[in-house]
Amino acid sequence: MSKITVTNLKYKYPHRDNLALNNISFEIQPGEFIGIVGENNSGKSTLCQSIIGLVPHFYKGGYGGSVIIDDIEVYKSDISTLCKKVGLIFQNPFNQVTGSKETVFEEIAFGLENIGIPRDEMIERINFSMKLLDIEQYKDRNPFDLSGGQMQRVAIASIIAMKPEIIILDEPTSQLDPAGSEEVFQAVTKLSNEGITIIMVEHKIEKIAAYCDKVMLMHKGELIKFDTPSEVFSLDNLSDYGINPPIFTSICKKLNLRKDDNNYPVTIEETLQLLKKERSYEQN
Ligand SMILES: Nc1ncnc2c1ncn2[C@@H]1O[C@H](COP(=O)(O)OP(=O)(O)O)[C@@H](O)[C@H]1O
Ligand SMILES: [Mg+2]
Repeated sequence: MSKITVTNLKYKYPHRDNLALNNISFEIQPGEFIGIVGENNSGKSTLCQSIIGLVPHFYKGGYGGSVIIDDIEVYKSDISTLCKKVGLIFQNPFNQVTGSKETVFEEIAFGLENIGIPRDEMIERINFSMKLLDIEQYKDRNPFDLSGGQMQRVAIASIIAMKPEIIILDEPTSQLDPAGSEEVFQAVTKLSNEGITIIMVEHKIEKIAAYCDKVMLMHKGELIKFDTPSEVFSLDNLSDYGINPPIFTSICKKLNLRKDDNNYPVTIEETLQLLKKERSYEQN
């Protein structure tokens, strides 16, 4: 059974003429790592909000179609129910940590204390999420003394401790340096391997290509394509949607170097594999 099923979703913010989401349909399977790409105002954040239920429950506005998580219909549910299933991570880790906790451990404990988790279970959950995000060594440090990438991992650990089944990250690396971004992508991949469904809005195309199972390309509120990174980034008219393909895809396009399925490689590994194959043809 699909984890998330979106059918003919349409949404308009109050007092706005344009549809922020225009007839979107897709299905996401449990444990998939999905990347959402698209230029500004294409509806990426709105789509994220519609999965956690802030659209329409908080923002109101005009709504049609359906979003179903497992067997829960978002429109008929409420945010408190949905928040138990879906965790949300924002751009800036500085705005996400509470700012009132002295240590990483206490920071992660905060959400659990709020929902009254018994102490033993709390410690177990905190240790589990610190281990998963590889931040055990910062346990007693002040969250504000950490680097951006480390702090974003603390924010993600706080969400993981709440045991969500889906995590949505809206541009989680936009404030981070390359090393911090890499940390976040690796951490999130680990979560997806644990069976958590991941939806990540991201501009770093190379990273999306390297890490995501599938890519959702959005433009002006519409879902243009939802497929493997290779299918999406091989689109001839990708630039019409304000997206540059990964660097290796561009190079292979120029060289007309295609894979067996006629698509272009999207990562260095795929490119090298293809070049090796071409060379062995030539030698035989
Ligand atoms: N809170 C809001 N109120 C009214 N309109 C909004 C709001 N947030 C976004 N929009 C509009 O919805 C459309 C999609 O925006 P958004 O989902 O933020 O796109 P993206 O995340 O791809 O940049 C845009 O036209 C934007 O102006
Ligand atoms: Mg956005």
